[in-house]
Amino acid sequence: MRPKLDSVSRRDNNMLFARLWVVSFVVPLLSGNHVPSIFVGKRRSYGVRYYPEVENPATGNPTSVGNPLQYCVANSVLNFTGMGLRRIGDFFVNTTYARELYLDDNEITEISDTAFDSMKGLEILSVSGNKLRTDKLLWFHYHETLWRLVINDNVVNETTDDGNIRDMLEHLPRLEYLSLRRNGITRVHIQLDKFAPILNWLDLSGNKLQSFDFLVNLPRAMRNLYLQDNGCFCTINNLPSGIEHLQVSGNRIAELCNENCNGETSLSLKGLKKLRSLAASRNGIRMVSEDAFKDVTQIERMDLSWNELRFYPKTRSLNHLKYLDLSHNQINEVMNLCDSILTSIETLNLSNNHISMIDNNFVNMLYLKTLDLSNNRIAILPTSLIFNSRSLEVLLLRNNSIDDIDDLFKKNSFKELELHLEDNPFSVVQYYNFQVHLKQRDARSELTNRVSIESLGETSDDIVNTDDLDDTDNDASQSERFFDIALNKLQTKQRHLAEFAERAPRNVTRK
Ligand SMILES: *[C@@H]1O[C@H](CO)[C@@H](O)[C@H](O)[C@H]1NC(C)=O
Ligand SMILES: *[C@@H]1O[C@H](CO)[C@@H](O)[C@H](O)[C@H]1NC(C)=O
Ligand SMILES: *[C@@H]1O[C@H](CO)[C@@H](O)[C@H](O)[C@H]1NC(C)=O
Ligand SMILES: *[C@@H]1O[C@H](CO)[C@@H](O)[C@H](O)[C@H]1NC(C)=O
Ligand SMILES: *[C@@H]1O[C@H](CO)[C@@H](O)[C@H](O)[C@H]1NC(C)=O
Repeated sequence: MRPKLDSVSRRDNNMLFARLWVVSFVVPLLSGNHVPSIFVGKRRSYGVRYYPEVENPATGNPTSVGNPLQYCVANSVLNFTGMGLRRIGDFFVNTTYARELYLDDNEITEISDTAFDSMKGLEILSVSGNKLRTDKLLWFHYHETLWRLVINDNVVNETTDDGNIRDMLEHLPRLEYLSLRRNGITRVHIQLDKFAPILNWLDLSGNKLQSFDFLVNLPRAMRNLYLQDNGCFCTINNLPSGIEHLQVSGNRIAELCNENCNGETSLSLKGLKKLRSLAASRNGIRMVSEDAFKDVTQIERMDLSWNELRFYPKTRSLNHLKYLDLSHNQINEVMNLCDSILTSIETLNLSNNHISMIDNNFVNMLYLKTLDLSNNRIAILPTSLIFNSRSLEVLLLRNNSIDDIDDLFKKNSFKELELHLEDNPFSVVQYYNFQVHLKQRDARSELTNRVSIESLGETSDDIVNTDDLDDTDNDASQSERFFDIALNKLQTKQRHLAEFAERAPRNVTRK
């Protein structure tokens, strides 16, 4: 695909040039005239800019535009967006000059199979926002030059359309880019490698696919595959090995695996040696088999957020992984993460999990810049991480249960770190001889509720000295016990404060 993409950007550059050219020479000539917007301009080469001499097809409520216009500037762009077209007849526009044709946001229900036959040089065709039936979405004649086809948002009356793409007429030998988003497609019955043998970009996101079986016939050239938001209770395997970007978020895949896939629904990453990004958010993934990432050694970005993972998978190291999103899972311990698995990670998102202890775990991630641990259950400020991680730039600990941050001020540190501690229950900070009160007790009522709910049943309400959270045994191996103790102390302390405030409301700031 790369050569083509290069040519796109070249094209864009030239388009920019053409626009500049148009602005400086043509617009003054046209001011005051009604200029139909059909003809956008020419791209890539210079020439005279013509506007069609016919009346705007939008007026007169056309049902068909059959060969009405002559456009004779090389590399032109024809834009029929939003003109109320209903049917695209035979030999729609008889010109070999047009490179791009936009028929978006019309009422098109039917396209003649010969419509584009005379547009010999057409490279880009867009028919989004119309009313094409699903079974005819790929109803195209052989076309020599078309390389980009966009047919998004064609919504038809569901009672007359079963959402199956059944047929294709002929193949499109140059097609590299096919976008079929949000068309209500339920099944694809065609062999995509026959239809578009060098297709490398396929976007079927936002449909209602009920099966991914058609993926076995993907062309080997496939690089970018977008299947997200189909809600599909489906298994994906046998993907072409050249895939670089894969998005399957918003389906119902339960397992990530390689060879031994046991889950009812699974995504097999077998053989995907070139995969660079994977988005598998919002699937309900519960299982990740140990060899799941065995082949994806080049992966750089992975989004597994909003799943049901309870632990980070034990796996071999992913030496190129820079970005990992595990937010909104059910992870409660992060021990595995430090087994030198994520050696190159730069951004790690563990927010919205059930993590209570973190201790030293991230110190060995030498490139870690951003760590998000917000919305967890961390009770103790991770001082070791704060002071010893050399690369860390941003640490987010919002909305945890940290009620003591005095340790921050006990060390002289010249480290630069953006530390977020919003919505934690601490309200007092000891700094040399100062005791700094940072907020009213009320500000953490939400957290107080949460803590006391979690410790419900605790009745020992002896008022003890509770300002000694740090004196607790700091043994990581007893993390759970430790957390319980910390939680109890925290609760007692809050109760203590509450009672104290009741008794002497004006005196809260004593010590
Ligand atoms: C086509 O025209 C519509 C509105 O007239 C405009 O929004 C759209 O950007 C144009 N498309 C191209 C490719 O120029
Ligand atoms: C297209 O135009 C050419 C020349 O302008 C003409 O010879 C040819 O018959 C036209 N084709 C159709 C299908 O109208
Ligand atoms: C869909 O088509 C059926 C039968 O043709 C018709 O009764 C129904 O009103 C249509 N629904 C919509 C939303 O157009
Ligand atoms: C982590 O994920 C949460 C929820 O998905 C998101 O709101 C937050 O911005 C992410 N944090 C970073 C640092 O990207
Ligand atoms: C704080 O975290 C808890 C879960 O630990 C969550 O239920 C709550 O919505 C979070 N609050 C905010 C303001 O994000």
